[in-house]
Amino acid sequence: MADVKNEQNGDANPAQTYDFSSDDEPMIIKKIRLTKSQKKLKKYEDMVAKKKATRKLKKDRKRVRLLEEGIKEEVTHVNKKEKLRLMKEKLEESMKTGQRVCIDLSLEGVMSAKQTSRLVQQLGRLYGANRKADKPLWLHFTSLDPGSYLYKECVRKNCGFEKYMITMTEKSHAAVFPTEEIVYLSPDSETTLEEISKDKVYVIGGLVDDSVDKDRTKNRAAEKGLKTAKLPIEKYMRKSGSIGNFSKVLTVNQVFDILLVFYNTQDWRKALEAGVPKRSGYVLKDDQ
Ligand SMILES: C[S@@+](CC[C@H](N)C(=O)[O-])C[C@H]1O[C@@H](n2cnc3c(N)ncnc32)[C@H](O)[C@@H]1O
Repeated sequence: MADVKNEQNGDANPAQTYDFSSDDEPMIIKKIRLTKSQKKLKKYEDMVAKKKATRKLKKDRKRVRLLEEGIKEEVTHVNKKEKLRLMKEKLEESMKTGQRVCIDLSLEGVMSAKQTSRLVQQLGRLYGANRKADKPLWLHFTSLDPGSYLYKECVRKNCGFEKYMITMTEKSHAAVFPTEEIVYLSPDSETTLEEISKDKVYVIGGLVDDSVDKDRTKNRAAEKGLKTAKLPIEKYMRKSGSIGNFSKVLTVNQVFDILLVFYNTQDWRKALEAGVPKRSGYVLKDDQ
């Protein structure tokens, strides 16, 4: 009501000013004097327009950012796919021409459920290491019974286990490979492994034994007339002092890692450094 009254009082009437900037008749510039409510309305409209412009700017910026991110995402997606393809290709190749390494899984019967579970984890880890290697080994899991607790745990705990790119068989290593090609790895062997050869298959006992049942795999191998060998830990390593368990009995995946690094580098020092745990107390000798 007050605003209406102001307008009626003549507040909305234009005030007149004159423009003398040209030689022509001066032009009357009409400055509109706004009423209070008109000023309020204008202020409001200005604010709405400003907000709209800011929103549009933000929206445009977001579109550009998303576009850039989308391109990046597409690139990393392509890279991931490409990496996976290469990985598969390498594993496929390893399963034709790679160095053969076998995990003998016939020893489930001598392990507790807990030890079997730990073995399952080690199998998952060693497969992961093999996938990432430049030159993977041709991995065999022998004596693997699909009805066993070990197999079921492998499927349950190791993602994609059934599709692992390795050779899995229910048959024993002795049934799959000729006797003269088998070298059973045992920490108790009198023979030290010097090289790894394509003509041989290196068998690791699929065993987790906390109390370390000495000579178990060595005796089993001897019974079947198989050659055995131990890793060259003594040749390349020494005790670092008095701290450590000084055990040369390694876990299945540590032994596998050592073979994998050696296969890729032909360097026992690198391989042992990568696979022998620090807590063992063994360090590399300086002079080799
Ligand atoms: C935890 S160990 C089991 C040790 C068990 N007492 C035995 O008689 O083999 C698991 C497997 O890793 C391999 N291994 C462990 N340490 C080794 C070493 N120093 N040299 C060769 N093989 C080793 C063996 O094949 C062994 O069966």
